[in-house]
Amino acid sequence: MMLPARHLLAIEGLHQTAIAGLLDLAESYLLLNRSGKTQRDLLKGRTLINLFFEDSTRTRTSFELAGKRLGADVINMSVSTSSVNKGETLLDTAATLNAMNCDLLVVRHGQSGAPALLAQKVDAAVINAGDGTHEHPTQALLDALTIRRAKGRIEGLTVAICGDVAHSRVARSNLHCLTALNARVRLIGPPTLMPAEVARLGAEVFHDMAEGLKGADVVMMLRLQRERMSGGQVPSAREFFRFYGLDAQKLGLAAPDAIVMHPGPMNRGVEIDSAVADDPARSVIAEQVEMGVAVRMAVLDILARQQPRLA
Ligand code: CP
Repeated sequence: MMLPARHLLAIEGLHQTAIAGLLDLAESYLLLNRSGKTQRDLLKGRTLINLFFEDSTRTRTSFELAGKRLGADVINMSVSTSSVNKGETLLDTAATLNAMNCDLLVVRHGQSGAPALLAQKVDAAVINAGDGTHEHPTQALLDALTIRRAKGRIEGLTVAICGDVAHSRVARSNLHCLTALNARVRLIGPPTLMPAEVARLGAEVFHDMAEGLKGADVVMMLRLQRERMSGGQVPSAREFFRFYGLDAQKLGLAAPDAIVMHPGPMNRGVEIDSAVADDPARSVIAEQVEMGVAVRMAVLDILARQQPRLA
């Protein structure tokens, strides 16, 4: 399979067949991972640099693991101890890494559009690992794979995405991914946490969680991203949990076999109750993390195949 561009910057614009092809390849990597085998010849001689300007546990670690399982040389650049602290610009940092003949550049940045800007300046294939409130494409792919494996399909499912939609790149990428795969997407949250452009996003919008959860097959909770708020958008964590936090009672309104998802990191007692997050009969949060490694292996594989060797 091929992707339409040599970078992966967003899900928006990706065709259903490209997404399905990536999920199929990721599924084969999932089986390889579970068998304990690796495929270290695939990216042998290739260099992957993780360039994270924002904190990460899951994404950075799984890209590192994915790259190593495919045989790449993986460098985790510590931005906090880099020359960025001496005033080096994003583009100069990228030009420096480019001069080292990096093949794959995984970028997380607080500004929406930063990975796309870098993609215009470097020879490496750029993978967006989350940019501002814009997109987090590999998260949506791993979420889609998790849903497909848990439910056997995505088409026709009702997926409720709940909480701080306004600040969530995960919500945007999932919305594009799930609608491309013909799921019905509902966005649930207070008006203050809905993006201004919500009307044209192609999802049903609910401000009442009980209404939005009714009959949902998948309940995807989002973290309250206080670090991106200018203040006053949420009165208090306690009040937020009362109206929009997922507990067993609210989950009872969804389909009886509804699964619970969360991209992490979770704020327990704010957007999700531990009793739900840790319920092995309903929660697929640990599976999401496992799918993350497989999906990132698939993305690295495809982009490396499309990328001429630089070194
Ligand atoms: N879901 C996600 O992006 O988690 P991290 O911030 O830990 O990478």
